[in-house]
Amino acid sequence: MGKTHPESVVCFPFKNEDAKVFIKNIKEALEHPRVAEVICVGYEKDECYKAVESAVPFLQKEKGKRVHLILQKKLGEKRSGKGDAMNTALTFFINQTPYGRIHFYDADIVTFNREWITKTEEKLDQNFQVARCSFPKAPTDGMITWNITRCGFAYNWPETFLPEIEQPLGGELAFRREIAQELIKDRWVLKYSDWGIDTAYMLAFCQYKAPIYEVYIRNGKLHKLYGQLTDLYTMLVECFTIIQENQSVKIDTNGILYHKDSIDIASVPQEIQHKKAFDVEGTVSLLRENWSPQEKELLDTFPAKIREGMLALQKSGTVDVRFMDPETWYEVYGVLLRYFDQKSLIWSDLLFHLWVARVLNHTFYFASKGFRQAMESLYRMVTSFEHRRRKGPLIRGQIAA
Ligand code: LAC
Repeated sequence: MGKTHPESVVCFPFKNEDAKVFIKNIKEALEHPRVAEVICVGYEKDECYKAVESAVPFLQKEKGKRVHLILQKKLGEKRSGKGDAMNTALTFFINQTPYGRIHFYDADIVTFNREWITKTEEKLDQNFQVARCSFPKAPTDGMITWNITRCGFAYNWPETFLPEIEQPLGGELAFRREIAQELIKDRWVLKYSDWGIDTAYMLAFCQYKAPIYEVYIRNGKLHKLYGQLTDLYTMLVECFTIIQENQSVKIDTNGILYHKDSIDIASVPQEIQHKKAFDVEGTVSLLRENWSPQEKELLDTFPAKIREGMLALQKSGTVDVRFMDPETWYEVYGVLLRYFDQKSLIWSDLLFHLWVARVLNHTFYFASKGFRQAMESLYRMVTSFEHRRRKGPLIRGQIAA
């Protein structure tokens, strides 16, 4: 791997994680020969923060490297969330350390190991300025990634490589100091203090013309799974909002170097192929609940098939989400981009209900057929968004083997 002296910093943004998993991940990072220091950026002084605080002296002593534990600062204009944590880390990295690269990893990854660092380091050695990790995930995981962000990239920027980015919301990536320097000067990026940050970084990398590589981590990302999909409500709204707010931004990725490892579905660990990402039974009832008269009225904005399908879900009886297939989702997406109002809770509730219908359609009619079918339908959906938004013939976005 060329030079082996430490020149990288690893950052874990966190908020009330399982401290045991987190501390193991900090150790894993400290043991990597390329890693000089670790920065942990907490949302508040919660139980997890305190557990890490008491572990820091031992970790430092045992590994002979610095571990910084800091609280995130309010830097952006949106809700203070992951964006502020990542940008606080970048500011610390630039102002308080001399190192050449920064890595980010989610604190809750059960399957995290040094390979993630090694693989991204290798790509940064090869003149890529940004290296992202992608990995197999459960067939019903990544439902914001696929239905919101990847579809949104395809809808807004079908001529770019953005729709091909495997896990644009993945918090596992590394980049060079010059990129960090650009990001902390970029007022547009700093604004996204919430879940929009991953999308903001991705769009910013394209604006900076940064060469990007996506490495594929075969052992996959197993992490804390969700309960009912309500856990993802805020993330859903924030990830859609950044796509909508920037829909008229021009992005040209011509000439930017972008590569990714090929993905081999056959080698995906069985445990991941069969994992349930959320509580399906608990989620079905969400479709029937919490419909205000104003929200029902907003359904008039949508084509009849969608309006009627969504109204039928509110009646008692079996939940029928067959209508919310990937093609119908394209129609929904177009209406949302045009009319969604981020200041209106009623619109947020409607976005949530529509998305839950899509997620359950995917769960019942695609994921239930097996991992390969689940993945193929998701890739096909993004390709079809691209195709419908492009003028010319389809030349990219083939389904992975
Ligand atoms: C995703 C997870 C949050 O979409 O479901 O990435």
